[in-house]
Amino acid sequence: MNQNQECRKHAPIGVFDSGVGGLTVVREIMRQIPNERIVYFGDTARVPYGSKSKDTVTRYSRQIVRFLQSYQIKTIVVACNTASAYALDDIEKETDIPMIGVVKPGARTAAEVTKNGRIGVIGTEATIGSKLYNQYIKQLNTNVQIYGKACPLFVPLVEEGLWQDPVTDEIATRYLTELIDIGIDTLILGCTHYPLIRSTLGRIMGEAVTLVNPAYETARELKDMLQCRELLNDKRPALGENQYQFYVSDMADKFKNFANSIIKYGILSAKTVNIEEY
Ligand code: DGL
Repeated sequence: MNQNQECRKHAPIGVFDSGVGGLTVVREIMRQIPNERIVYFGDTARVPYGSKSKDTVTRYSRQIVRFLQSYQIKTIVVACNTASAYALDDIEKETDIPMIGVVKPGARTAAEVTKNGRIGVIGTEATIGSKLYNQYIKQLNTNVQIYGKACPLFVPLVEEGLWQDPVTDEIATRYLTELIDIGIDTLILGCTHYPLIRSTLGRIMGEAVTLVNPAYETARELKDMLQCRELLNDKRPALGENQYQFYVSDMADKFKNFANSIIKYGILSAKTVNIEEY
């Protein structure tokens, strides 16, 4: 292995989301490939992406890719379903950095685990409207029916920290009743914020329904991809090497507190950057 390749192995992974949701993906990456360095960007000034147009989400994603590239990252994880659905196809053609999104891995798992062929997908209006989950699932298993349901209120509820709250219960019941009535046996949590209210969603759907968290599968796919390209970091970064760096476009302190409640990894700090400059 030449020196250049050795260097690339130790380069960080860039991860981004519209805000805090991508931290559920970061948490999985930390668990599954603990030697990796991560540079995370959360677009807290411009969240939500789920109610914006494809053009806007693609423009934002391009700026974030340029920002992450300034850290010599070896790969990018689009840890946002909305950006994966709207922007990934375009942005991955524009650089030679390998990228993975969260939609494909989630679709693959759902296609594998369903027994009765009825799969529900919940996500933002953009993700559900794009029908990208439907497309990928159908490519793998033509014998299934997919039922999408946009749940736009879940993101603000999660961001407000109302993970276990009667308000969240009430809204989740309203959103999910039609999926329960249809008799789905598999539910994809098609927004990176949703794993944080997983216990509420699981309780409402009942034990017979398997919840698919694409974050887990994405981290697994990322590991395979890095292994294949001989880019998996085989050495834990030295202490003080700043293994995890977090950047946001606004409200760094609020983000930091949120991150520390999700990721149990000592105290993480976050810095604000002006993403419009990229
Ligand atoms: N976390 C984003 C996703 O996975 C949704 C939040 C937003 O609307 O920006 O789609």
